[in-house]
Amino acid sequence: MAKLIKNGRIITAHSDFVGDLLCEGEVITQIAPHITPPDGAEIINAQDKYVFPGFIDPHVHIYLPFMGTHAKDTYESASRAALVGGTTSLIEMCCPSREEQPLEAFELWKSKAAKSACDYSFHMGVSRFDSAVAAQLREIVHQGIASLKVFLAYKGAFGISDEELFDTLSLAKELGVIVTAHCENETLVTALQQRFLAEGKTGPEWHEPSRPSRVEAEGVHHLMTFAELTGAHVYCVHTSCCEALAAVQAAQLRGVNVWVETVIPYLTLDKTYAEQPDFEGAKYVMSPPLRDRVHQPVLWAGLRSRLISTVATDHAPFDFAGQKEMGRHDFTQIPNGIPSVEDRVNLLYTYGVCRGQIDLQTFVDCASTQAAKLFGLYPRKGTLQVGSDADLVVYDPAYRGKISVKTQLMDVDYSGFEGWEVAGRPSVVMVRGKVQAREGEFVGALGHGQLLTRVPTHF
Ligand code: URP
Ligand code: ZN
Ligand code: ZN
Repeated sequence: MAKLIKNGRIITAHSDFVGDLLCEGEVITQIAPHITPPDGAEIINAQDKYVFPGFIDPHVHIYLPFMGTHAKDTYESASRAALVGGTTSLIEMCCPSREEQPLEAFELWKSKAAKSACDYSFHMGVSRFDSAVAAQLREIVHQGIASLKVFLAYKGAFGISDEELFDTLSLAKELGVIVTAHCENETLVTALQQRFLAEGKTGPEWHEPSRPSRVEAEGVHHLMTFAELTGAHVYCVHTSCCEALAAVQAAQLRGVNVWVETVIPYLTLDKTYAEQPDFEGAKYVMSPPLRDRVHQPVLWAGLRSRLISTVATDHAPFDFAGQKEMGRHDFTQIPNGIPSVEDRVNLLYTYGVCRGQIDLQTFVDCASTQAAKLFGLYPRKGTLQVGSDADLVVYDPAYRGKISVKTQLMDVDYSGFEGWEVAGRPSVVMVRGKVQAREGEFVGALGHGQLLTRVPTHF
């Protein structure tokens, strides 16, 4: 059935006007000041509401074997949570261990996503590099995965050597795929962790000092050198601090093709959350760590100036009971991650747009359009135009509510934003013409989500 969105304030990264938008089948077929409803069309009244393109979260973990346990969500829970929060496409990190074959891992991660309610794709993790891996990566790119992921941290787990980094970036340059990277100097992390533990400093409040901003900046600087010498296009995930941004800017001045992501926890939370007593701080342990609040104005300014392209979540849900608790006597054993796939859009709107940090165009750009452009989904996703997928969010700015673990759909036993107020929420969320969420409820179908295949664009 056709769907006509009437009288909404239609917002894209470059435009803002009041009008109607017609969806037929899976795509947008008309946008105009007034559209006469076709016979049988469902009319969705968007008076006094925004109409945004479906939001894209380009950095999530759903199936993630990590730090001796597994991330909590499944696609059934995470995709419903994403949709209720306005996110219509996810890009998950496919993170094989060093021992796994990339093609087998890719098949495994795809199988985990079969029941997704929202659209999805993957960044293909490279945790080992040799000629056999290279052949498999070529095949995975051929199958429509046009981005890779490397970790410069997590020694002994996903982290790769400098030789492997050089070879991965060289292959990426040849194939025209962008390489997303977790940038921290792992040698420094390990040395500082050991020093603190030896001094009896075992609580979650020591997580940030063990990975200070200079450690992240060193990781970025390292990646920039390798990107410069290989010509590969790179994307720094979860960037948390001024020093890392300065390393990116210096590289851009040298002509390095680099883009920057930050994540909603760095824009809203700070390191004092991880310093809370009675191990409560463990809920806020992620890497890179939550920083001093002084970094936040710089991150917001980076979004306004477009030095930072995207706001993702790095959604990585671990229960407090039984999972975060694994590190009760040793902060290095606390599974890293803060869940937020459900809350990103509302938090960014409330604490970004409503607080005057970013305007509506920047909001759409960094939460949807840029991810689509960088990762080969544009203009199918990331905007509202004729021919684009009918992925959209009718957003109610009059809604007032509070985030709570009691009401969230994410399958995890806490919220890092418990009690936080939100000033707006998605009223209707559509994926390829099908309404999947309404007013905080999932009303759609599991399995509606499709794997989004992408072609290389980073030559
Ligand atoms: O703390 C984090 N970021 N957990 C997820 C894994 C990663 O590094 O992205
Ligand atoms: Zn990471
Ligand atoms: Zn991550």
